[in-house]
Amino acid sequence: MHCSPKTVFLFLLSCIVLISNYGLLTAASNVGLNYGLLGDNLPTPSNVINLYKSIGITKVRIFDPNTDVLNALRGHHDIGVTVGVKDQDLAALSASEEAVNGWFATNIEPYLTDVNITFITVGNEVIPGQLGPQVLPVVTSLTNLVKSRNLPISITTVVSMANLGQSYPPSAGTFTSQAREQLTPVLKFLSQTNTPILVNIYPYFPYATDPVDIHLDYAVSKSEAVVVQDGPLGYSNMFDAMFDAFVWAMEKEGVKDLPMVVSETGWPSAGNGELTTPDIAATYNGNFVKHVVSGKGTPKRPNSGVDGFLFATFNENQKPPGTEQNFGLYNPVDMKPIYKLF
Ligand SMILES: *[C@@H]1O[C@H](CO)[C@@H](O)[C@H](O)[C@H]1NC(C)=O
Repeated sequence: MHCSPKTVFLFLLSCIVLISNYGLLTAASNVGLNYGLLGDNLPTPSNVINLYKSIGITKVRIFDPNTDVLNALRGHHDIGVTVGVKDQDLAALSASEEAVNGWFATNIEPYLTDVNITFITVGNEVIPGQLGPQVLPVVTSLTNLVKSRNLPISITTVVSMANLGQSYPPSAGTFTSQAREQLTPVLKFLSQTNTPILVNIYPYFPYATDPVDIHLDYAVSKSEAVVVQDGPLGYSNMFDAMFDAFVWAMEKEGVKDLPMVVSETGWPSAGNGELTTPDIAATYNGNFVKHVVSGKGTPKRPNSGVDGFLFATFNENQKPPGTEQNFGLYNPVDMKPIYKLF
């Protein structure tokens, strides 16, 4: 090689590019993690943030504005934080804009200068349901508040697949009548500002109800071949099919291009016999990480990559016994991974 300063420079530059590409593929920098706190043996928030840094996590979702966690996140601007409004606060907040302003002043304002809060989620899976009608008023008040102050925070809600009355095949995706009443107005509101709806998508649950007819490879995104042909769209994995069923259901409500972010997905590593082993959980979650990192979309939305959060950082021993306690990637006591993922 002719070693002019210029070629040396280009050589070094290509090394840097290679190293950073390698980092992108291994550290899963686009995948977020849910950080649940329903355990009595969890590490301190600052140890958890050190763990996130060590594995390259730049997006974290917490379920309520926990002061210990938010204080520990101060100064870590590279970590984008999604903060939930507690379900039990919705009734008071939906009744008064002043209450919403007070909530914001107490729970968000103190962190604005040194925590990178990117999303506030109003209610966790409360639509469809009794609290469902309380979501839109709070989303509206918070949206007005952040807009009037020019804050780069997106206001949205988190919903589950329970909104779908029909989901198979994906093109048959339709909301239930309660979802049409409660969710559609929220989706239309979010559309005005192109703010993503956050959706929890767990292929594990339908698989666990019918492990005979649903192939494991399809459920854990291990199949390369098309398993479900839906008109012109071919599905090799259940995650894409569930995602697209929701997209189809939104379209039928006249909501066409609203971005969708996966607020939770995951697979338990124990609690339900041979359906829940560390190996299977590692396969599902690993394939989700690959999906996100690949930048590839779903069959219905091939041009927009999948963005989302794995559930969850730790096994949480104060959740209901069984699989619910075993969605964690890490053991809370020694912070060791339950299986190799990152
Ligand atoms: C805040 O977090 C988001 C999402 O992870 C990220 O895109 C953005 O770069 C972060 N902001 C800063 C100042 O690092």
